[in-house]
Amino acid sequence: MPKKLVILGAQWGDEGKGKIVDLLSENFDVSVRYQGGSNAGHTVVINGVKYVMHLLPTGILHPHNIGVIAQGMVVDLKALKEEIEDIEAKGNKILHKLYISDRAHVVMPYHKLLDKLFEKKNGVGTTLRGIGPSYMFKFMRKGIRVADLFDQKVFEKKVEENIEFVKNIAEKVFGEKFEIDTRYIEEEVVKPFEFLKDRIIDTAKFLRENSKSVIFEGAQGTLLDIDMGTYPFVTSSNSSALGLANGTGLSPKYFKDACIYGVAKAYLTRVGGGPFPTEIHGEEAEKLREKGGEYGATTGRPRRVGWLDLVALKHAVEVNALDGIILTKLDVLDGYPEIKVCVAYEYEGKIYKDFPASLEVLENCKPVYETLPGWSGSTKGLTDISKLPANARKYLEFIENYIGVPIVMLSTGPQRHEYVFLREII
Ligand code: IMP
Repeated sequence: MPKKLVILGAQWGDEGKGKIVDLLSENFDVSVRYQGGSNAGHTVVINGVKYVMHLLPTGILHPHNIGVIAQGMVVDLKALKEEIEDIEAKGNKILHKLYISDRAHVVMPYHKLLDKLFEKKNGVGTTLRGIGPSYMFKFMRKGIRVADLFDQKVFEKKVEENIEFVKNIAEKVFGEKFEIDTRYIEEEVVKPFEFLKDRIIDTAKFLRENSKSVIFEGAQGTLLDIDMGTYPFVTSSNSSALGLANGTGLSPKYFKDACIYGVAKAYLTRVGGGPFPTEIHGEEAEKLREKGGEYGATTGRPRRVGWLDLVALKHAVEVNALDGIILTKLDVLDGYPEIKVCVAYEYEGKIYKDFPASLEVLENCKPVYETLPGWSGSTKGLTDISKLPANARKYLEFIENYIGVPIVMLSTGPQRHEYVFLREII
C-alpha cells in the first residue's frame, strides 16, 4: 500500500466509495475528509451493522484509525454530533480520535433555509443540507469558521450580520418572511460546538507534521466538481483531486507521491438535475434502479440511471490523473443479454470524444454506443478472479482500453469481504 492514498468518485457520486474506503483504510493510520459536508452519504456494512457516514471519514470506524475533518469541509455541527453519537451507540468509540479543523466553515441553520429558497429557482436538486450557501458565505468572506465559536463576541457579531443579510435576500428576492430565533442557533450550533470543542485543532499542521500513512476520502464525484463537472449542476466544492490541496491545507507538493484511485460504477447514476447523456427511462430504467438499489443514502431519492459513459469516465481519469479505477456493482449487470457503453457524443453532426464544458452540448448530445455481449454467470460476491465470466472480463478490458488506466479492484457486493483485486495496489 502507498503511504498516501486518495479515493474519490469518478462519476456523479454514489459510486460505492464508502465500502472501498472502509476496506482500504484498515491499512492507514489517518483518514481525511477534505471537501463537502453532510451532503455525502457513504454506506458501510460491518458485521451486518450498517453505518451511513455523512461528515466523518469512513476510516475512523477502524479502532486504530484517526479521523480528520479538514478545512475544506463545511460542517453542520449538530449533524456531526449526532453522527458521532449514533456510531458510539453501536459500540464504536470514536470521538477521542477525531480532529476537526478550526478553519472549516460552519453550516448555519439559515444556510439550509437559503438552500431551499435557491433550489426553488435553480432546480439543481441539491441535498438541501445548506452546502451551497455555506460555501457562498465562505467566498463572500462572511462565513463563520469553527475557530470563531471560541470567541462568543466574534461569533454573535457575525451571526447578527449574517441574519440581516439572509433576511434581506429572503424578503427582497424571494418575498418570504424570515425570522430566526437565536435560541435555535444555540441548539443547532453552540451546544454541539461545546460537545466537539476539545477535538478542534489546526488539522493542516497535524497532517504536515504527521509522517503516518494517510487515506484521503473524496465525497461526491468528479462530474459534480464545481469547476470540472457539469456546471451549474454540480456541488459547491472541488470534489475531484483538484480539491485536495485547498481542502486539506497541504501544498500540492505533499501529494506528488500520492496514489489516486477513482471509484466508478459499472453503469451510471446521478441524483438531482443536470445533463446525463446516457440516461435511460421507463421499464429499462426501473429494472436497473431496482437491481442496483439506486436510492439516495442521504435523501432517499430514486437515482437516475443509465449506461456507462466512457467519455465522462475518461474525463475523470484525466482530471484526477488517476492511477486506476475501482469498479463497483458489476454484479448488477449480471444476466443482461447485451450491455451498452457510450464511446462518444454526437451533437449537431460533430463527434465529441472529450467531455465538453458546454451545458448545451451535454444536454442535447446523443450518446454513441458500442454494444457488448452480456454474461450469464454470476459475479455477485466474487472473490476469485479466475471465476469471472469471459464476457465480464471482456467488458472490463473494453473499459481499460478506452480510458487508458487499469481497473485495479472490483467490488462485488455490499459486504466487506465481497471484492477482488485485479492488480496490486501500489
Ligand atoms: P449539494 O451538494 O447538496 O449542493 O447538491 C448539488 C448536487 O450534487 C445535487 O445534484 C446533488 O444531488 C448532488 N450531490 C451532492 N452530494 C452528493 C452525493 O454525496 N452523492 C451524489 N450526489 C450528490
